[in-house]
Amino acid sequence: MNRILIDTDPGVDDALALLLALKSPELHIEAITTVSGNVHVDQATQNLLRILALLDLSEYPIVAKGKSKPLVKPLVKAEHVHGNDGLGNISELRNPDGSPRYPLANCDISTISGVDLIIEMVRRFPDELVIVALGPLTNISVAIQKDPECMRRINSVIMMGGVFSDYGNVTTTAEFNVYVDPHAAHEVFNSGVPIHIVPLDVTHQVILTGERLIAETKAFNDKMSKFLIESTQACMEFYRENVGFYGFHVHDALPIGILTHPHLFENVTAHVQVETEGNLTSGMTVADLRGDRVNTNPNANVYINVDSDKFLDSFFQRILS
Ligand code: BDR
Ligand code: CA
Repeated sequence: MNRILIDTDPGVDDALALLLALKSPELHIEAITTVSGNVHVDQATQNLLRILALLDLSEYPIVAKGKSKPLVKPLVKAEHVHGNDGLGNISELRNPDGSPRYPLANCDISTISGVDLIIEMVRRFPDELVIVALGPLTNISVAIQKDPECMRRINSVIMMGGVFSDYGNVTTTAEFNVYVDPHAAHEVFNSGVPIHIVPLDVTHQVILTGERLIAETKAFNDKMSKFLIESTQACMEFYRENVGFYGFHVHDALPIGILTHPHLFENVTAHVQVETEGNLTSGMTVADLRGDRVNTNPNANVYINVDSDKFLDSFFQRILS
């Protein structure tokens, strides 16, 4: 059984990843923890409840709020990409009667912290729990610091983050999730837990265009398709002005794809290190991806390729079903 905890900072692409995961019957989403990243953790937690309300779940995963700031650096957010509320400003939208178009799910927030929930879930499902990390690694690194023995029993961490041969999306050399909390990423890569890393090199291969989104949702007139269109608009505008196409990369959905459609992905093992100090390179992930010949001491599976067409087909097939 795939027992999953998702750690997330929603975020438009986080929202797509969460929906894909919750609509994948082979995944058991036991818990979801939030972290500051794209938006402050308070907003991220609200966004999570808004996303959960889109689905008719008989039972909610356990939800807990995690760390509000990175280990050392001040928090850097990405509201310019994801909208002021992190979900393309859909929190401002109202129904004709004045009620919110995207209400919050009536789901309890755990009284324990995100960090303690991570530890608790590893304890509950030793060697079984897969942590999918879709934001900065702050919660996971603090959980490792707090209870290293327990955290050795994680099955694996599948993280979206880092960049190796491509350019970064915050600086020339750094990807957002690692840039925001490089010290946390450094801790996790040195902890000995099995890591699968899905860097920009792979997520940049999957482009969801505005045109494709309209075509896929045309036949539906339900809250899910409306959410897909309305929550992604600000992000696609940002891409049109800054990246050069009307669409966006669905970064965080890819780690979920690795769990549901592993045959669509290609990976190599490598020793990954994180630059925490460099003036020009803070948050850079460093690894030689030439395979076992140069990696005597690998600490991660690094994903390098995805079948983008098949991934997007399966994404829409699941999310709109
Ligand atoms: C990552 O940064 C965030 O803005 C996205 O949600 C994703 O997790 C991509 O670099
Ligand atoms: Ca994210």
